[in-house]
Amino acid sequence: MNGEIPDLADPRTFAEHDLGDFWRRLRAEEPLHWQPPRGDRSGFWVLSRHADIMAVYRDDEQFSSERGNVLVTLLAGGDSAAGRMLAVTDGPRHQKLRKVLLKAFSPRALSRISERVRDNTRRLVSAAVEGGECDFAAEIASRIPMATISDLLGVPESDRDFLLQQTKSALSSDDADGTDLDSVLARNEILLYFGEQCEQRRRNPGDDVISVLATSSIDGEPLSEDDVVLNCYSLIIGGDETSRLTMIDAVRTFADREDQWRRVKDHQVDLDPVVDEVLRWASPTMHFGRRAVRDVELHGRTIRAGDVVTLWHSSANRDERVFAEPEVFDVARSPNKHLAFGYGPHYCLGAYLAKVEVAEVLSALRDFATGFELAGPVQRIHSNFLTGISSLPVRFAPDAAGLERHRAARSAGV
Ligand code: HEM
Repeated sequence: MNGEIPDLADPRTFAEHDLGDFWRRLRAEEPLHWQPPRGDRSGFWVLSRHADIMAVYRDDEQFSSERGNVLVTLLAGGDSAAGRMLAVTDGPRHQKLRKVLLKAFSPRALSRISERVRDNTRRLVSAAVEGGECDFAAEIASRIPMATISDLLGVPESDRDFLLQQTKSALSSDDADGTDLDSVLARNEILLYFGEQCEQRRRNPGDDVISVLATSSIDGEPLSEDDVVLNCYSLIIGGDETSRLTMIDAVRTFADREDQWRRVKDHQVDLDPVVDEVLRWASPTMHFGRRAVRDVELHGRTIRAGDVVTLWHSSANRDERVFAEPEVFDVARSPNKHLAFGYGPHYCLGAYLAKVEVAEVLSALRDFATGFELAGPVQRIHSNFLTGISSLPVRFAPDAAGLERHRAARSAGV
């Protein structure tokens, strides 16, 4: 970056630069950094050290999520879903709403969904490996998380492609020309869709998340249609692209690191630590943020009440104070206290499911391919919130014995 200060609110910054040196310098010299106002956008604080970010995540009394939790909403002055959508609700209402949603994440529900993730993933990966080449992002990754959340929510098969399209434009865009208007329209489409689903489930409930929300109460008050719709939206937005980008990044990372893939392929490591290292490495949500509720002293400076404070996973997950050789991708890394899922009261509700999805992709690749390599140019997304790849052409070397075992198991109905 030649010593200049990059604009962390501008999506182009992440598409055009490697910020590794910038983050290292901030962690060492300026752990509480002020991004000055630019044009008509206000300034904001930037935290880059693991310990500071954990402390802010933990402290939802001094640092609120109710006026937004990502730069886009924080800089716009707030989030219209505050106090209703889990991620932008604080205090006792947040705890009660989280408890309602957790009903839908019971071990029984999750084990059923995990089984479907496994079947779906093995079917997609085995077909792709047999075909020899594919765009891993478009043909595999785009079909796993969305199917998982749709199972959780009870979204019918016929509506899934439509929802995938809308979530893609609501959160990030594959090309720099995607406009704010496109994302507003996409967001409205999703909200309208869940409004219709909510009405249906009130009349005819099942055991899916939409039904759980549509038939639950907090303090004796049934959740309103808005509450139901916004929280469905939150699951689909929170759980689709994040997991998708993580599994795409995993494949890209292993394609470049034959030695690390060998350790996975030869069962030298369990998949659990591998998945955590994949998450640390990908850090698909680059930041989250909070608004200070009162004046807070940190590193000899004062964060004023009302100031926006951003917490950068991209930096915390490479913090040399916490990770030995942070710039090395090590499938056996232990301990691995990455912050990819955040920390504290808002810790990711879908962490378990996301890990299952990534683990099943790796397990299927381990069983069906001896290796894989990039087969063409990679396309990155444009966003100041998410980082990752939207197009990843891959060529597979098939594992004939593994594929044969899979075919035999399928024809035996296992
Ligand atoms: C919260 C990351 C997958 C649903 C969070 C937070 C992070 C995160 C960092 C904390 C936000 C904050 O503190 O403001 C990720 C990553 C994922 C992932 C990296 C995939 C690799 C999922 C999935 C779901 C989901 C699969 C749903 C099925 C949520 C929800 C919250 C949340 C509802 C809000 C929790 C609360 O406020 O109490 N996620 N997430 N996420 N995530 Fe995830």
